[in-house]
Amino acid sequence: MAKEKIILAIESSCDDTSIAILKGNKVLANVTSTSMAEHRRYGGIVPELASRSHCTEIDKVCDKALATAKLTLKDLNYIAYTSEPGLVGSLHVGKVFANMLGTLLNIPIIKVNHMMAHAYSYFVDHNPKELKFPILSLVVSGGHTFIARATSINNFKYLNESIDDAAGEALDKIGRYLGLEYPGGISIDNVYSNKKLIELAPNKPVDAPFTFSGIKTAALNLINEYKMKKKTVPVKVIGSSSLEWIINDLVRKLEHYLSQYKDTKMVLVGGGVSANKLLRKKLSQIKKVKVCYPTLKYTNDNAAMIGAFANLKK
Ligand code: KG4
Ligand code: ZN
Repeated sequence: MAKEKIILAIESSCDDTSIAILKGNKVLANVTSTSMAEHRRYGGIVPELASRSHCTEIDKVCDKALATAKLTLKDLNYIAYTSEPGLVGSLHVGKVFANMLGTLLNIPIIKVNHMMAHAYSYFVDHNPKELKFPILSLVVSGGHTFIARATSINNFKYLNESIDDAAGEALDKIGRYLGLEYPGGISIDNVYSNKKLIELAPNKPVDAPFTFSGIKTAALNLINEYKMKKKTVPVKVIGSSSLEWIINDLVRKLEHYLSQYKDTKMVLVGGGVSANKLLRKKLSQIKKVKVCYPTLKYTNDNAAMIGAFANLKK
């Protein structure tokens, strides 16, 4: 059997500076430095602060990853990095670092699309032999929400994608308006209760594009009404009802595409919101096809998923 190659992967598309070292699909190290505390003061990501933080952190994170993996630069066979999409300044730091290492070591550099990496993030530490096409992919993150179908690793077709706020972004904004800690998606997950749910907005047709700005506006308007009447905002009820609407929309649409594409062999779920307990509970009710989620620690942005996708692609 061919010896598994060593991949050093870099993720710097948003606020986290993350470097992972993988032997094939097995993670030897995954080190992340986050600038979240600085952004929290502003209730969202400030791009300039994020790029500055990548610049000061990236070589320290790299040293730590190599030390954790008990390897040196000479042991590396590939460099992988997030090339798109993301904050321009943040991506640039990762690109320069990847090119510098690849050139210095004279080894191949693999560009990875961040959304593809979320889509296939189940394969961090899971055997690539489990991958059976065609797949349906549901990616629910802070910047994007989509369902795609892939018939091979290089043939990935979007069936539906968000045309305004992504699911995570809508939850973060609703959370902020409710006075919950950033990121709102996690805070709302933590306060969620299915008691006293209210209908904030009507459902959209199942084949309509993902749009979460309507539910966001409905929630914000209701919060404003309470505030104007100087009444206590029912944080749990509004947060839970917004989450319920968003999760139901994701699950309904996924089921719709599953009934359209009956040859689907597996569903791969990924992205920050794929950590959500309600989403996982509702998706577990789908029995006709295997639904795979990344291990919780690999749902949010991380370099291990960049390395795992590079391993599938190389
Ligand atoms: O995929 P990700 O780490 O970054 C992007 O590529 O955007 O996703 C971040 C998003 C944030 O909006 C965050 O609120 C959301 O994922 N998120 C969650 C949970 N954990 C993270 N949303 C709902 N429930 C969670 N448990
Ligand atoms: Zn992401």
